[in-house]
Amino acid sequence: MTHAILSPAMPKPAHVPDALVYDFDLHADPGLLADPHARLLDIARNAPPVFWSPRNGGGWVIASHAANYAASRDTETFSSEFVPQAQMKAMLASLPAGAPHIPQPIPITLDPPEHTKYRQPLQKVFSPKTISNLRSSIAELAGELIDAVKPNGGCEFMSTVAEPLPVQVFLKMLGLPLERAGEYRAILKEHMSAMDNDREGAMRRLQRIAAAMRDTVLARKENPQDDILSMLWQLEIDGQPTTLADMENYGVLLFIAGLDTVMNGMGLAMRGLAGDPAMQAKLRAEPRLIPEASEEMLRRYTFTVPMRIVHKEVELAGARMLPGDWAKLLLPAADLDSSEFPVPEDYDLNRENNVHIAFGVGPHRCLGSHLARVELQVLYEEMLARLPEFRLDPAHPPVFHGGHVIGIERMNLIWDI
Ligand code: HEM
Repeated sequence: MTHAILSPAMPKPAHVPDALVYDFDLHADPGLLADPHARLLDIARNAPPVFWSPRNGGGWVIASHAANYAASRDTETFSSEFVPQAQMKAMLASLPAGAPHIPQPIPITLDPPEHTKYRQPLQKVFSPKTISNLRSSIAELAGELIDAVKPNGGCEFMSTVAEPLPVQVFLKMLGLPLERAGEYRAILKEHMSAMDNDREGAMRRLQRIAAAMRDTVLARKENPQDDILSMLWQLEIDGQPTTLADMENYGVLLFIAGLDTVMNGMGLAMRGLAGDPAMQAKLRAEPRLIPEASEEMLRRYTFTVPMRIVHKEVELAGARMLPGDWAKLLLPAADLDSSEFPVPEDYDLNRENNVHIAFGVGPHRCLGSHLARVELQVLYEEMLARLPEFRLDPAHPPVFHGGHVIGIERMNLIWDI
């Protein structure tokens, strides 16, 4: 288990009643680090549907399914613009002439209507058709990674499969050279371990990501190929042709939104399967059940926690929030809410109306959900087809991490050879 230091408890603001205070540190909660979804189930059962935690700077945590649904759709009250656009534009305009562009992960940091202008062109790029064309090459990459560890009778799954697979898929999809996978993995590692509040460091990392893509981005403008960078150059944003700055913004968005998420989803999915030999046997015998299994995995082990800042006074599930308050959308607790999912702790392939919100809901709903689903399903298929029954290595229990993408640091799997 990782030991992290709890963040200091902030004083409770006057508008927060005692009954709504509940201690939960998204990064260092001991229960979360010991077994994330056991703690999240405990929150879903025992915490108020919306509570205020003194940790992580002090802020609201939205736990119930209904409250997450309502807050995610009300972007006028629950804003994604942590730095207001006017302030951001003024800051960018104040940079000296010729200073390197600071890429922004747009549109995830914008509210409608500005958000819509930048999201709409991306929909085409992530259509189910574009993504299903990638399926066989994703399966090939997954197969190579699994075959490489198979003769060893075990592996540290995160570094050998869960991390390299989405990085290689990302490079391939964007048309970036696979030889640079090591460089991208290094940036991803740094990005994941960086502190939340290190804004300058975040800007430098975003610039490094953009710099690592720039040669290929420019080459695709001159010589379009069958890849996403070339497609992005063909887009129009609000009637204007795409610029290099737009390309860099989209590039860092996809890097941030698509790598860390898939990797941790893969870890959580395989941890679930490794502890459930009966489910492995069932899915090996009936691979057609894999799409349902991966959907139920997304619900049972939902793992992302988007942030919002309150822009207007509002009451949500009995909690009065004021402008400037921070709110975490605790989607993993929402998907374990028993008023929405009967017996939520069960991993149930026959669940009716599995309307989980692992990919969010409302205008920011994940644009990469088709791709993520294909990556997860392919991983199930290839792991089950290529390996005999696998299990957790009792000598090295998994190490978990909290944060906005809850997940796994290290996980040793073993199998018989
Ligand atoms: C299992 C893996 C994934 C999960 C659980 C996930 C989850 C989410 C969630 C919850 C949001 C909403 C964020 C918010 O409301 O602020 C989101 C947004 C987004 N995701 Fe994913 N994601 C995954 C994989 C991906 C992949 C593979 C990509 C693309 C390469 C991607 C691209 C995006 C983009 C572009 C947005 C922003 C959409 C917008 O702001 O309009 N995601 N994702």
